Amino acid sequence: MFKSLKSRLFIWYIVSLLLMTIFVILVVHVLALKNGTLFLALLFFTLAVFGFTIIYKITKSLTYLSSRMKMISSKNLDDRINDIQNEDEIGELAHSFNELLDRLHDAFKREQQFIADVAHELKTPLATLRSTIEVALQQKRESIDYQKALQEALSETHRLSSTLKNVLDLAWSETPAEQKNAKLFNLVELMEDLLETAQKMAIDKKITVSGKIEKGIKLYGFKDKLGRAVLNIIDNAVKHTPKLGKIEITLKKEKDKVVVKIHDTGIGIPEPDLPHIFDRFYRGSSGDKVIGSGLGLAITKAIVISHRGEIKVRSKVGRGTTFTITFPLS
Ligand SMILES: Nc1ncnc2c1ncn2[C@@H]1O[C@H](COP(=O)(O)OP(=O)(O)O)[C@@H](O)[C@H]1O
Ligand SMILES: [Mg+2]
Repeated sequence: MFKSLKSRLFIWYIVSLLLMTIFVILVVHVLALKNGTLFLALLFFTLAVFGFTIIYKITKSLTYLSSRMKMISSKNLDDRINDIQNEDEIGELAHSFNELLDRLHDAFKREQQFIADVAHELKTPLATLRSTIEVALQQKRESIDYQKALQEALSETHRLSSTLKNVLDLAWSETPAEQKNAKLFNLVELMEDLLETAQKMAIDKKITVSGKIEKGIKLYGFKDKLGRAVLNIIDNAVKHTPKLGKIEITLKKEKDKVVVKIHDTGIGIPEPDLPHIFDRFYRGSSGDKVIGSGLGLAITKAIVISHRGEIKVRSKVGRGTTFTITFPLS
């Protein structure tokens, strides 16, 4: 019951006050002992020693805790403070600190993995580019061969720059946006613009893009970021829907939520791929056939989450895919 420091200190304080009062009344005034002042000094001293012991214990654990905290750096993020077993506030502080380290450790691991993935993604097109140029330079060739080599080199640089752009976008979408710059914007306008863009993107494949956009919906946040998030889904829909297919874009209000839906009649996503499509650099089994970096949906998810939204996907191979994004109407 008296495990917390707060209650222990409080009890020490109350007991001290009580004892001193009783002592002064009884010994000094009622009994009027000769050595009253001496006894009072003794009692005062004993209580002070008790108080000092309690405070010493507290500060000792705190100093220890702080010295352990000073030793933690990115190199030993897996260290934990396990030797403070107190059941008081200090124990709680050590426990919270360990939990903080857990979270930092996870975040740090994820960043390291991301850098490794980025390096890996950039390595392949760079190696191809290099070997294309090396082969072209090995001997004198016809101009048509040079043209072919340059064409290949150009398409690799396109791949490189699109991956780099996506990496930057992802970094940008994951840094917490300054909430004070968020604005109430017209979501209807944004979705109508996106519908138009989607229709342009789908012309070559003769895909019909239709829209069901409810009027009068506004959202608080960043218009350009959200536009980017939805565009990534539209881009996927166009890429993975065969000729003459259909894409439907919906915006509606549902109770206290805003719902954005993008449905396509494309090739669908195999069940085993579904849990991974939002991971960075994950490209489904159909990934080799179309250009991409596997970052699109990771960017989309980061943006949706930064708007306190949620993104879900439903898909059937050969039938099509539906992405549903919901935002709370605040
Ligand atoms: N509408 C869709 N239809 C079929 N597969 C999809 C669809 N959207 C996403 N995918 C799958 O999810 C993977 C990840 O998508 P994304 O993160 O945008 O990366 P990328 O488009 O660069 O490959 C894609 O490689 C693809 O396999
Ligand atoms: Mg994509």
